[in-house]
Amino acid sequence: MTEFTVPKVFAPLWKEKARYRGTFGGRGSGKSHNFATMMVIRASKQKGFRAICVREVQRSLKESALRLIADTIERLRLGSEFDVQSTQIKTPGNGLITFSGMQDHTAESIKSLENINVAWAEESSNLSSRSLELLRPTIRAPGSEIWFSWNPRNASDAVDQFLRGEVVPENAVVVKANYNDNQFFPSELEEERLFDEKHNVERYAHIWLGEYEPRIIGAIFDRTTIHTNRRSDPPKMTRIVVAIDPAISEGGDEHGIIVCGIGEDQRGYVLDDVSRHGSPKQWAEQAIAVYDHWEADAIVIEVNQGGDMVKHTLESVRPGCRILEVRATRGKHVRAEPISALYQLDRISHCGTFTKLENQLCQMTAAGYQGDDNSPDRVDALVWGFTELFPKMNRQKPRVDHRDQTVGSWMA
Ligand SMILES: Nc1ncnc2c1ncn2[C@@H]1O[C@H](COP(=O)(O)OP(=O)(O)O)[C@@H](O)[C@H]1O
Ligand SMILES: [Mg+2]
Repeated sequence: MTEFTVPKVFAPLWKEKARYRGTFGGRGSGKSHNFATMMVIRASKQKGFRAICVREVQRSLKESALRLIADTIERLRLGSEFDVQSTQIKTPGNGLITFSGMQDHTAESIKSLENINVAWAEESSNLSSRSLELLRPTIRAPGSEIWFSWNPRNASDAVDQFLRGEVVPENAVVVKANYNDNQFFPSELEEERLFDEKHNVERYAHIWLGEYEPRIIGAIFDRTTIHTNRRSDPPKMTRIVVAIDPAISEGGDEHGIIVCGIGEDQRGYVLDDVSRHGSPKQWAEQAIAVYDHWEADAIVIEVNQGGDMVKHTLESVRPGCRILEVRATRGKHVRAEPISALYQLDRISHCGTFTKLENQLCQMTAAGYQGDDNSPDRVDALVWGFTELFPKMNRQKPRVDHRDQTVGSWMA
């Protein structure tokens, strides 16, 4: 093993005995590297060490800490002791490190974790209170520990309440770390940081200094509701649409392209966000690609500006695709309000994390959009999609169905 340095800020996590270890703070502070190093060192010393790295939602192993731990093993030159496989890492003395999403676990399946020595919850601001409540009694082997690393978002998030709330467990060590505590802070990230300091003033303290997300006064969507309803997989869907808010002017705005649907449980699901910049042909191809992938039953498209052109663009990529044209007669935030009501009623789940879309949602207020990107194109597309799927919430105008040439019904 080679020598390694632990940034001073993390020293308490290495020294003190604790059942819970937590490290929170802004981007690039070395939180993930520190726990990865701790885990590899433990595994090399304690034969048969068993650990699990969990996230609330893990759609693929790429999202997991597997790569980081594998790189850490290399960095410490311990490659000969470990066996890094595609889905797990074998550790000395027949031990094992595995990776999974909490949402893929049931009360039953989680029992398989009872002999785990360490559970590390990465990005644990996403951790739901259900997952936290499931994890705590499950990790019960003698001397077992649970680790948390996160960039705080809301004081009401489960991990913040647990480790930074009014009553903190006695056997917990928690440290705050920021980029300036990390002597390995890379210059690429420093450039990002300087950019945000100048151009992303609103969210800078959250992203880089580990402060809670700024709350927009009067916002009609909130992160807590989005997070508590998040799912990793949708149920069986009864309808899926691809909703598009095309940007008409070249170059500037993004084309909002959102895939959403209604499940057999009558709830709404955001399935994908493939919004992008580009030419009309590019957004149309992107939309058709997800239309095919999700076997959607229609494309919902706003035609206020350049209606025929928009329809024509889609039809040139896929003749005969089912297009539902909608026309905006009221302001963005007025259209968004019924959809925000659906969120408040816990009737919408995001399947995965759609950071850009969620940032836009949380900057929608009753008085308009407060974000500093020009226009909330992703939200617009989403609103069109759910307006189509939940017609009773908000049917203003008949929409034109271009496949069967019928006119949608009026709804009060
Ligand atoms: N122990 C370390 N050795 C080498 N580089 C490190 C170490 N800790 C952090 N870094 C560097 O700092 C960057 C940020 O660390 P990371 O653990 O990803 O931060 P965070 O999880 O807090 O966002 C990494 O991409 C890496 O370049
Ligand atoms: Mg990290």
